[in-house]
Amino acid sequence: MQELFFDLSIISYTQSLVRKKMDLEKRTEIPNSLEEHWMPFTSNRDYKNSPRLMVKAEGVYYTDHYGNKLIDASSGLFCSPAGHSRPEIREAVSKQLEQLDYVQPFQQGFGGSFDLARKVSKHTPEDLNKIFFTICGSSAVETAIKIAIAYFKAKGEGHRSHIVGRERGYHGMNIGGISVGGMIANRKTFSNILMPNVHHLRHTHLPENLFVKGEPETGADLADDLERIAGNIGAENIAACIVEPVAGSTGTLVPPKGYLKRLREICDKHGILLIFDEVITGWGRMGAPFAAQAFDVCPDIMTMAKAITNGVVPLGAVASRDHIYDTIVDSSPTGAIEFFHGYTYSAIPVSMAAGLAMQDIIEKEDLFNRAKEMSPYFLDGLFTLKDLDIISDIRGYGMMGGIDIKMDERLGKAGYACFKKLFEAGLSLKATGDCLIVAPPFTCEKKHIDEIIEKLRTGISNYMHDR
Ligand SMILES: Cc1ncc(COP(=O)(O)O)c(C=O)c1O
Repeated sequence: MQELFFDLSIISYTQSLVRKKMDLEKRTEIPNSLEEHWMPFTSNRDYKNSPRLMVKAEGVYYTDHYGNKLIDASSGLFCSPAGHSRPEIREAVSKQLEQLDYVQPFQQGFGGSFDLARKVSKHTPEDLNKIFFTICGSSAVETAIKIAIAYFKAKGEGHRSHIVGRERGYHGMNIGGISVGGMIANRKTFSNILMPNVHHLRHTHLPENLFVKGEPETGADLADDLERIAGNIGAENIAACIVEPVAGSTGTLVPPKGYLKRLREICDKHGILLIFDEVITGWGRMGAPFAAQAFDVCPDIMTMAKAITNGVVPLGAVASRDHIYDTIVDSSPTGAIEFFHGYTYSAIPVSMAAGLAMQDIIEKEDLFNRAKEMSPYFLDGLFTLKDLDIISDIRGYGMMGGIDIKMDERLGKAGYACFKKLFEAGLSLKATGDCLIVAPPFTCEKKHIDEIIEKLRTGISNYMHDR
């Protein structure tokens, strides 16, 4: 296999002349070959030609392999609201590894998972008190779907097998998740192996709601799509409706006023379970523990991941209402396994330790209120970019916003080019298609928000000029 030695003479790095260069010989973080790692959701060929390697993260900044500092405008991948390199989490994980590194989670366990489940259930709304730990957001979504199906089987309503998702929804990368999800690029290659009996509501991004800060006034009636689907296939055949309260990965689509309440009403009318996928919106991003509280709509099942450990260790979780757990558990004889589902890494000690340490940080630093208080400043800042011609829409809620860049030839080309310009300007964020998703850590002070907005302006302007 050809070794690609990391050398500035063979790797072109856009605008490298104006960027600080480190003495690469002295660095140990730089790999000799970029060939073997098949990177996820990455344009591998382009990346390997001009890689963006991070070597350090601290507070709200990353440092790349040239020694340049980049402000983290998307909390990693919506994972790190408490900022990077938190000693509390590091120490808790290290202590846990010294004490008990791994225990099988089936028919055994350890105290940490019960402690964390209890803490999580204090933040979930109403009686969503039963917490099933998974490995990540994708496995949380699969688990949520399976809980819904198992619940109806246990209730003697096995005919309820249909699931309703939504266009432009993102629910992770497993087959259940891409089936109920609605991002075409993630689905089309696999269209012949998707889950059967899945239907989609229309998405809620209406042309009349461009440049609306917060919840748009119009569009609540789009929730009636669920009523139409129920009318078409029989409401008694639908197990669950799954949505992200605010669609995150597709670019921060904030629900129109009353939309989520209407979905809740239709679910109640027909006995359909409402699942909120709160993998991004959970843990304070909306200025409340979960979007459920921010929008005052309570689902029956809720998924979460990412920020639950501040992104440091993989962990997902599913919260279910008490009666869902009781129905499934009580339908099996005592001594029998009630739910044939779980993962080798469900509730492992390191993830529980990181989760518990994160809970302490949330409490001590009042993180959710911090997000709520910073939100207006952040959103106002975002909307100051409106004058840039190349921007076709700005949206936002809580500590999350989306900026659409006008399409250039094909979907994603402008977004990726812009993302690279932003990186050069010293800003790290997530771009999906032609949308830039901004979701700063809650530990950002106003000066950091100002820096993010200023760098967004610089990077987007540079893209406009150099295109
Ligand atoms: C709403 C939602 N669900 C599920 C997932 C999948 O999570 P993971 O990448 O941890 O599997 C994501 C990831 O971004 C997400 O945003």
